[in-house]
Amino acid sequence: MPKIIPIFDARAGRAADDSAVALALAEGKVRDRRTRALHDLRISVTDKCNFRCTYCMPKEVFAPGYKFLPQPDLLSFEEITRMARLARTVGVEKIRITGGEPLLRRDLPKLIEMLAAIEGLELTLTTNGSLLPKHASALKSAGLQRITVSLDSMDDATFRAMNDMGVGVAEVLAGIDAASAVGFTGIKVNMVVQRGVNDHGVVDFAKHFKGSGHIARFIEFMDVGTSNGWRMDDVVPSADVIQQISQWSPLVVADANYEGEVAKRWRYADGGGEIGVISSVTQAFCASCTRARMSTDGKLYTCLFAEKGVDFRAMLRAGASDAEMLALLVGVWSTREDRYSEIRTAETAKQRKVEMSYIGG
Ligand code: GTP
Ligand code: 5AD
Ligand code: SF4
Ligand code: SF4
Repeated sequence: MPKIIPIFDARAGRAADDSAVALALAEGKVRDRRTRALHDLRISVTDKCNFRCTYCMPKEVFAPGYKFLPQPDLLSFEEITRMARLARTVGVEKIRITGGEPLLRRDLPKLIEMLAAIEGLELTLTTNGSLLPKHASALKSAGLQRITVSLDSMDDATFRAMNDMGVGVAEVLAGIDAASAVGFTGIKVNMVVQRGVNDHGVVDFAKHFKGSGHIARFIEFMDVGTSNGWRMDDVVPSADVIQQISQWSPLVVADANYEGEVAKRWRYADGGGEIGVISSVTQAFCASCTRARMSTDGKLYTCLFAEKGVDFRAMLRAGASDAEMLALLVGVWSTREDRYSEIRTAETAKQRKVEMSYIGG
């Protein structure tokens, strides 16, 4: 078979040489130019969604007739599993399945089962929850370990307006209950806080989940993609969220679960459980960012705010060997310098970036 010479863009760097790959394999780790190890791989399994959240897939852009990826462009389960297996050999310990809405991908539990056969991987999923009543049981049996559900308000009118498909709060709560009933614990519930849209409901959201065993998390609205009309003024700093909640029920800082955890954890002083805040705008966490993202069509992105990814699908489908795939993976990660959130300005916020529904959140 002829040697495969992948095409690189300047940003992506190039395939690592044999000694760099051998070192990464020996250490079970690959580090980027800022010494950050590759630890998490977030894999988007579909660019479609049954919601049209105004901050993610606004209807004006994602209208009927919008061209989603055709089926043959999607990485197959075998291709995804091969990528995960290779990534595991150089240090990936967590896979998060995302979308779009990942539960729209047919036979997703089958993929989970295939990934669960790889030793040493934690398997997690981020979903809008609406299809969990149907799929929670199969996901659990397949070996999924953790679930995160997005829910932007406890107020029905606000939530319906935000998902823009008229989905009520009760439908998502039914999904969370279904996941709980089949044995998922510590379910995280993500609220993207937008000033003037849902920020009046922060305390209600916290109240609803306090003492439930679920973990409410408050995310600063981010300038991902090019279609959500982001403005700095729309961001509610996590510090304000913490202040609001602690005035109702005092909070104390808790330690991170793992190095580089995205959310800052806080515990209720009275033992009512914990919450998390994700301050990607006001307190960037690029210095400890250990995440790579694989788009639905097999491009690897080393930052959520990247414009371009590196085409692994072309390699997979051209018959590349494991060694060639690994050389590219090690090459891309070891030349990584991303730190978008640390250097964000009003100008960079307007730059062309990949959409979140395609790259995964
Ligand atoms: P666990 O720590 O495993 O529970 O997962 P997580 O918090 O990384 O996952 P989740 O999908 O719930 O992401 C929470 C929010 O953080 C989402 O809005 C993500 O887009 C955001 N996020 C996750 N990783 C990054 C990142 O590397 N950079 C930025 N800027 N935001 C991120
Ligand atoms: N800013 C912050 N979080 C976002 N999410 C989607 N779009 C944005 C945005 N612009 C969240 C989703 C989901 C997670 C993966 O990312 O609500 O919880
Ligand atoms: Fe769909 Fe999640 Fe985007 Fe909402 S945030 S449109 S649920 S992918
Ligand atoms: Fe990582 Fe990019 Fe997010 Fe910074 S902005 S934390 S480098 S994904």
